[in-house]
Amino acid sequence: MDVANAKLILEDQEIDLPIVIGSEGEKAVDISKLRAQTGHITLDSGYGNTGSCSSGITFIDGEKGILRYRGYPIEELAESCKFLDVAHLLIYGQLPKGAEKDAWVDGITRRTLIHEEMKKFFEGYPPHAHPMAILASMFTSLSTFYPDGDDTDLDIVRLIAKAPTIAAFSYKKSVGQPFVYPRNDLGYAANFLNMTFRKPTEDYVVPESVRSALNLLLILHADHEQNCSTSTVRMVGSSQANLFASMAAGVSALWGPLHGGANQKVIEMLQRIEADGGDYKKYTEMAKDRNSDFRLMGFGHRVYKNFDPRARILKKAADHVLRDLGVDDPLLDIAKNLEEIALADEYFVERKLYPNVDFYSGILYRAMGIPTEMFTVMFALGRLPGWIAQWKEMRDDPKGRIYRPRQVYVGATERHIG
Ligand code: CMC
Repeated sequence: MDVANAKLILEDQEIDLPIVIGSEGEKAVDISKLRAQTGHITLDSGYGNTGSCSSGITFIDGEKGILRYRGYPIEELAESCKFLDVAHLLIYGQLPKGAEKDAWVDGITRRTLIHEEMKKFFEGYPPHAHPMAILASMFTSLSTFYPDGDDTDLDIVRLIAKAPTIAAFSYKKSVGQPFVYPRNDLGYAANFLNMTFRKPTEDYVVPESVRSALNLLLILHADHEQNCSTSTVRMVGSSQANLFASMAAGVSALWGPLHGGANQKVIEMLQRIEADGGDYKKYTEMAKDRNSDFRLMGFGHRVYKNFDPRARILKKAADHVLRDLGVDDPLLDIAKNLEEIALADEYFVERKLYPNVDFYSGILYRAMGIPTEMFTVMFALGRLPGWIAQWKEMRDDPKGRIYRPRQVYVGATERHIG
């Protein structure tokens, strides 16, 4: 909705720029014609002030700690939904019901097998290959098995169906155990857990508290508007690269420790503190020290400046699940102490640094028996519907065009050889 104009005075020109107001009142100055009108571009390194698109998928109010998918508060979705319902909500705009829901869930359940030829790829990796690297390459490889790209909805179903199988196989590869095939009688989360934890030598029944914790974790990670990996997916997809290749790019972007890779780094940090006698105060001091490059992993967020609603839900769930499973994890106590001390410390308060989603998710994954190297893969499984939804929204936009930012060149001016 365009409601008014902003005025920009630039050298001797006065330019009217439209103001755009979103459905939740977020205001933006539309500068899309600025360069054509004035020859100037805007400069916003790290994109802290740049809206790269209009989107109807996810709303975040970072000051108030609000997160909603398609209008529904994350707390309500986390309380009462299954992950596949939330995936449908994100991608198609509504929670599925009746026949639509049956077709959605059934379509995914029946496509969880990966092509037998794909199993050979796993053999080629070294034994300790990071599962995020495997996931990214396997996503791209899916496009060699489904190259047509003429039925996007079917490709979406395939991708959501096969992602847990690929993730579980990459784990089995890393521990040298035989692959466990998917089972159609299990739900999405239970099927992944069965493929991950079942061994040929033992019976395995998916514990209900682990299944429901995984369902919760997947929902909490399902979308987060224009973050690093999602913007990457949109960027790659904007060149009309296929769905599978675009998702592989999202996996790669997510892997970094400042983004999804932080959940692995949080546990490594807590283990380091524990090994060092549990002196968490020393580590908060280190995080504040400008001469040290140590940061409190799992703290801080570009958007949330009050609290991360996902972290709040997870902190409660961690207590509950650990009690239920009878797990006594000293890392949980260190995490709580670290949070308490950081939240009262001027450095963290001034900079509005609060625990983010990755702070407690690692504790939960650990309690569920998920190995540390798989944590970011778990994040990717959850984020997949969000990436798909954002990719589809961009591709369905008739005004969509290739993403192509500008730059301010600061290198050498013209020079010549010799
Ligand atoms: N520990 C100590 N100091 C911090 C931290 C931290 N975790 N995070 C930010 N700061 C300080 C930073 O040094 C800077 O201080 P100063 O103003 O004195 O220079 C100030 O706070 C602002 O930080 P920034 O790096 O400019 O903030 P950003 O918005 O660019 O970065 C962030 C956001 C999440 C990358 C950053 O807070 C961070 O590195 N956190 C640790 C990694 C992490 O937990 N990442 C997961 C993010 S949530 C899940 C996801 O979406 O991927």
